[in-house]
Amino acid sequence: MTDRPVLVLDSGIGGLPYVAAVRELLPAADIVYLADHAVFPYGEQDPETLCRHLLRLVAMLIERHQPAAVLLACNTASVVALAALRERFSVPFVGVVPAVKPAAVRTITRRIGVLATARTVKEHYLHDLVHRFAGQCVVTSVAAGAVVRLVEQCYGAPGADAVERAVRSAVGQLLHARVDTVVLGCTHFTFLIDQLRQLFGPTVSLIDSRDGVARQVQRVVQRNGDNARFAPRQPGSDRFLTSGTRTAELETLVRRYGFAEVRTL
Ligand code: DGL
Repeated sequence: MTDRPVLVLDSGIGGLPYVAAVRELLPAADIVYLADHAVFPYGEQDPETLCRHLLRLVAMLIERHQPAAVLLACNTASVVALAALRERFSVPFVGVVPAVKPAAVRTITRRIGVLATARTVKEHYLHDLVHRFAGQCVVTSVAAGAVVRLVEQCYGAPGADAVERAVRSAVGQLLHARVDTVVLGCTHFTFLIDQLRQLFGPTVSLIDSRDGVARQVQRVVQRNGDNARFAPRQPGSDRFLTSGTRTAELETLVRRYGFAEVRTL
């Protein structure tokens, strides 16, 4: 049995839907979540600076919380820094990267869209994924940073009109490219999956990586001898930390994901 937590990291609230998926498979696991609001949005940072920042931040979090595994619940952080983090630390890392491989299996027309941050769209990591797994497909990647900000500012529940305005251009570009499958390549977008489904219409399937990532966290924890047998959770042992400011709205949101309160880092 272990009482070592799973450490989850995102630039903000984007990792919370992934926490929900992990809790389904590992209900006894303690979760320590860091919303790195001080550096939000990751998608607009210089990649070298972001990578250095993540190496420092994760070193401090590992030292403090001794996690059984780290879930980098952010596509941008994963494409920029996952390799460097794995090289530096012995703790197992699970990254979240755009689900291009399952999209290539699912698509019938071989026209795939990827909706992500500007950084993810530019990174070699995404281009390599496309080259390796979707070489037979036409892949159109579109950056939608305004949507990330909207989700964060509205605590995961922006109004329908605001969503429509923020995603109109991205959805238009992907429909124009005649995609039949769209990868949600930013964890924040999973909050909007139902609204996005409506906007894309019935001919387009949306794919995100929550289930696969949760299964990978479970596998990694098992492989590392913790046998996924976590000691029963103590009340209040989960922690939601922010490197930014605590707000009442954030507190309300994180309670829905099983955290008792928001603390500052
Ligand atoms: N949630 C993050 C992702 O999956 C990025 C959001 C940001 O730009 O900070 O890419």
